[in-house]
Amino acid sequence: MATESQEYMNGIRRPGPLTREIPECMRDKYTIIQTVLDVLAFLMLAIGYVIQGIYKSIVGIPKKDLKGSIALVTGGGGGLGSLIALRLARLGCVIVLWDINKKGLEDTEKLVKGLGGKCFGYVVDLASRDDIYQVAKKVEKEVGRVTLLINNAGVVSGQYLLDTPDHLIQRTFDVNILAHFWTVKAFLPAMLEHNDGHIVTIASMAGQVGVAKLVDYCSSKSAACGFDEALRLELEVKGVKGVHTSLICPYFIRATGMFEEVNSRFVPTLSSNDVADRVILAIRTNEPLAVIPAYFRLLLPFKWIVPWPCISELIRGLVPDAMPAASPAPEPMRETKHILATPSKCESRPMALASPPARHDRQV
Ligand SMILES: NC(=O)c1ccc[n+]([C@@H]2O[C@H](COP(=O)([O-])OP(=O)(O)OC[C@H]3O[C@@H](n4cnc5c(N)ncnc54)[C@H](O)[C@@H]3O)[C@@H](O)[C@H]2O)c1
Repeated sequence: MATESQEYMNGIRRPGPLTREIPECMRDKYTIIQTVLDVLAFLMLAIGYVIQGIYKSIVGIPKKDLKGSIALVTGGGGGLGSLIALRLARLGCVIVLWDINKKGLEDTEKLVKGLGGKCFGYVVDLASRDDIYQVAKKVEKEVGRVTLLINNAGVVSGQYLLDTPDHLIQRTFDVNILAHFWTVKAFLPAMLEHNDGHIVTIASMAGQVGVAKLVDYCSSKSAACGFDEALRLELEVKGVKGVHTSLICPYFIRATGMFEEVNSRFVPTLSSNDVADRVILAIRTNEPLAVIPAYFRLLLPFKWIVPWPCISELIRGLVPDAMPAASPAPEPMRETKHILATPSKCESRPMALASPPARHDRQV
């Protein structure tokens, strides 16, 4: 190799583009013309995709048939998970429910069977990787190949960071994001083998913007957003066409076990049934991202444009208190698999819920 090229590689002379110092072999690659052409090509593609997106939103996208699919819903023993499971059962899916709450599992199982659906409930602690891998094998043996994986289970501590005990922070990350790694590692290989599958990540708007008292929750949900995006890109880079991913980012939801007392101004909290319907639509149309409500998608870019004090005012105005009733939890609680006691405000929610709140109207 010429000395000039070697020096360039070593970064000794650091020549700028199109200067005479660029070695001959590198010149073609890094010309301005090349860059301009790349940008133009990208812009053309981008315009094409935007037009395609507008066309699809006007004309609609054909919905895929889920009949016969085996759908696994984590956190299916209550809240949003049970509503998603009921809808999937209506569409002819075989339902597999994972939850730490045995009573909640039994409730949802009864409801699914009441609709004439097939349902298999498993008590799983999603904070335990061993538990996840073990039960995943059991599901494959007893039910079959999971084609639709919905990572929905979640917990929230809901306290100021310095009041949050370490074990709750750990649990938030274990359930809200690390469990996604283990479930995907357990079920993705078979999806790839059959070139057929869908992985749904139930994240949150809290994964896109920070909220006080939700430092652990927001960071775990932010990680969930990153997880979905990077995984989708990885599948695309590998040329996988039959396995899809969807990221769901809802605002606060009413009448589930999680943010019941949230103090939200201007933007009404969401109906859990509407969110469940939106999740199903995203699945059936292979939608990569569903922000709920949809107009938040237009507001999000402002986060990067306007000065921080505006963002801070907006978030504090919108959510004056995410967890009004939260109080510090001094003592770590012993973790058990089947906690059926009344939840304490100081423990990570909603692990201790015996059954979904009475207000929970399960419309299908
Ligand atoms: N409720 C909201 O306002 C809201 C807003 C945005 C996003 N989300 C997300 O939606 C998802 C569902 O929330 P939800 O409102 O239905 O909450 P929920 O509390 O009603 O339901 C969560 C379910 O997860 C289960 N779970 C908790 N820890 C578990 C563990 N270690 N192992 C197994 N199962 C466990 C619970 O038993 C429960 O059935 C969560 O990921 C949540 O972060 C909720």
